[in-house]
Amino acid sequence: MFQMVEDRDKRIIKSWSENSELWTEAVRANAIASRRLVTNDAIIKAVLEYGGSRILDVGCGEGWLSNELAQRGKQVTGFDASSDLIHNAKKNNSVSFYVRTYDQFLAQPDLGKDFDIIVFNFSLLSEQIKPLFEALLKITRPGGHLVIQTVHPWSTSGAQRYEDGWREETFASLAGEWSPMPWYFRTLGSWLNEIKSAGWRFHELHEPVNAETGQPASLILVGKK
Ligand SMILES: C[S@@+](CC[C@H](N)C(=O)[O-])C[C@H]1O[C@@H](n2cnc3c(N)ncnc32)[C@H](O)[C@@H]1O
Repeated sequence: MFQMVEDRDKRIIKSWSENSELWTEAVRANAIASRRLVTNDAIIKAVLEYGGSRILDVGCGEGWLSNELAQRGKQVTGFDASSDLIHNAKKNNSVSFYVRTYDQFLAQPDLGKDFDIIVFNFSLLSEQIKPLFEALLKITRPGGHLVIQTVHPWSTSGAQRYEDGWREETFASLAGEWSPMPWYFRTLGSWLNEIKSAGWRFHELHEPVNAETGQPASLILVGKK
């Protein structure tokens, strides 16, 4: 069982390495409608709402969010498993970007401390996330926040059972030949349990709605130290 989880985590990382150029292009061309219409502004607004200046962008990808926050005067550190995505991110030098998998970060959490905000923007895709939440709690200042934007569990369950489990993203709605990616679906209750069981206090949640469809575009969960 554990072996299977490990394999899926490796596949997640491999897919982002293989998809790095298509992903950078899609993000920078604003090709993903839900991001363009709703979720980009929603995560920026949520992060700014909680104040503070030191931000850690976990699974930062090609760095758009880090860069947006740096432009608003924040001191941002970002890390991601994909060296190609970090290479693309580094074109902005007001942010400190590092190549690290979450496991590498857990083994050596040396990217700074006393963060005001830890942010994940659609970058929590694994089954086992509690050790990461615990490690991040230690490098957050008292009163600091954990802000997670993810797919809204009620908008994606469709015909599938409303229960935790692995799913596959094929990126079918985007142009190009993408490597499919496994990702772990969580119910709302499961998300809250993960946050609380790692020692964070659950603070609040936001459900940004797509004005065109009337459906939730994402879920933003907020924990507090
Ligand atoms: C959907 S992308 C989001 C990227 C970025 N946060 C954004 O908003 O554009 C998911 C990101 O999570 C990163 N990621 C997923 N699992 C990871 C892991 N175990 N270690 C480090 N990065 C990981 C991927 O490399 C990828 O860049």
